[in-house]
Amino acid sequence: MVKQTLVVFLLALAPAALAQKFEGLAPTPPMGWNSWNTFQAKISEKLIREAADALVSSGMRDAGYKYLVIDDGWEAMERDSQGNLIPDPERFPSGMKALGDYIHSKGLKFGIHNCAGTKTCSGYPGGRGHEFQDARAYASWGVDYLKYDWCSHGTADAHETYKTMGDALYSAKRPIVYSLCEWGDTKPWTWGRDIGHLWRTTGDIMACYDCQGAYSLGWKFIIEKQVGLEEFAGPNRWNDPDMLEVGNPGLTLAESRAHFSLWAMLAAPLMAGNDIRKMSDEVRQILTDREVIAIDQDPLGKQATRFMNHPGKQIWQKELSKGDWAVCFFNDGDSAVQLQIDWKHLTFLKGQYRVRDVWQKKDLGQTTGEFRAPLASRDVVLLRLTPVR
Ligand code: GLA
Repeated sequence: MVKQTLVVFLLALAPAALAQKFEGLAPTPPMGWNSWNTFQAKISEKLIREAADALVSSGMRDAGYKYLVIDDGWEAMERDSQGNLIPDPERFPSGMKALGDYIHSKGLKFGIHNCAGTKTCSGYPGGRGHEFQDARAYASWGVDYLKYDWCSHGTADAHETYKTMGDALYSAKRPIVYSLCEWGDTKPWTWGRDIGHLWRTTGDIMACYDCQGAYSLGWKFIIEKQVGLEEFAGPNRWNDPDMLEVGNPGLTLAESRAHFSLWAMLAAPLMAGNDIRKMSDEVRQILTDREVIAIDQDPLGKQATRFMNHPGKQIWQKELSKGDWAVCFFNDGDSAVQLQIDWKHLTFLKGQYRVRDVWQKKDLGQTTGEFRAPLASRDVVLLRLTPVR
């Protein structure tokens, strides 16, 4: 009897304790553009409208980049007298609903940023204590994606705080992709899957290969931190190694290509962070490469593992649907190398495959004998293998 009462009591508690999440919103890693990496908090509705136009005219929207995410800097410095969030009246005079309508009219989805702490990292009002009120505002503006940051969190518990906002979004009844920007501090991959659709695994990316700041790091270091997190990624629950620096000053074209390839291998969200209004053709071609994007967006949703970590000759493997594999050779060193590898040594392969060089757009025959190719410094050779049936 006591046991039965206990079960009834626990069941009654369960709905309150369980996190609530809109399912099925991110079956493949979200793709889009975010204002932060190029513009930081210097943003306006004019810029956001231009970015929406550029997503369409560059072909990026049609290549899959559908979320336009307005990062830190859109808010007024204070909430209004009822505690509502309001946009900066000078830089966003038309308001967020009108801007969202413009974004939607371009066939895009509307993303916004705020913070789980009392203030955002740029000092604007954070969401703490206002979660349900803010979620209702986002829903009324037509927001489709919320990036929720972690500055000024004081002694707050990350899991509980992110869950509160998740519950608030759920109760506002508009399906919103929920991106937990907690920087990996409390291993959100161990608790985030029932709450959000993606979670940051590191501090902020910098536009460089191997530089480091107090809270930020180049992509060489970011990829190291993804090793071991493979099992946590999958449809609707992605590890997020931060937004792209492809095309930003600080990266060579080869570095941009390699960075993009590795993000695709990692099934990472692809959030472009360059000035898409004025990118070069080469950069646009990298960002819109259909074959690389298909590796990222593969429906199986597997994050690559590093098969070999030999200096200058890293090998990454990503299982794809229908028996295909993506294999990425990455030269992390400072001088060019010559790849020479017996296909037999790639022990994850079973049987015979056709080989496609994804960047060169060339079919290279089958997996017989050795694979040889030159590989420049900080560059990749990216292959897609398809079983011979
Ligand atoms: C943090 C996040 C960044 C960006 C800034 C905005 O540093 O990790 O991606 O959103 O805040 O201030």
